[in-house]
Amino acid sequence: MKRITLLGLAAITGSLVFWTANAKPVTYSLPDETAAFKPGPNLDVVQANCGGCHSADYLSTQPQGEKFKKDFWQAEVTKMIAVYGAPIADADAPKIVDYLTVTY
Ligand code: HEC
Repeated sequence: MKRITLLGLAAITGSLVFWTANAKPVTYSLPDETAAFKPGPNLDVVQANCGGCHSADYLSTQPQGEKFKKDFWQAEVTKMIAVYGAPIADADAPKIVDYLTVTY
């Protein structure tokens, strides 16, 4: 009984090895990004810090108007850093807030 189990195991392992060895890398091309950060001051800093986890759509879908300016964007940037762990340098955060305040 034990022998049969071992044989079965060997067969499964063998076919797995065969299957893995014959697996071909899958290549596919992604469609072009449909959202971009709007042009504005410190755009390079924003592109370097805000594009890694989600698309630029996240900015243009935020509420707009006088109530959603500097304080609002400051809170967003702080949240990205404190809650979601965005690795943003202390010196870059105010530049990003300025960009967001005048651009969105
Ligand atoms: C470490 C990853 C990461 C980085 C870097 C990052 N974000 Fe986010 N961001 C998130 C996550 C996670 C969410 C919430 C995702 C969701 O709800 O789908 C989010 C959501 C948002 C939202 C939607 C509103 C909200 O509060 O949920 C805005 C606006 C936003 N991010 C702006 C920014 C800006 C501006 C930067 C650059 C300073 C930035 N993000 C960098 C992870 C990141």
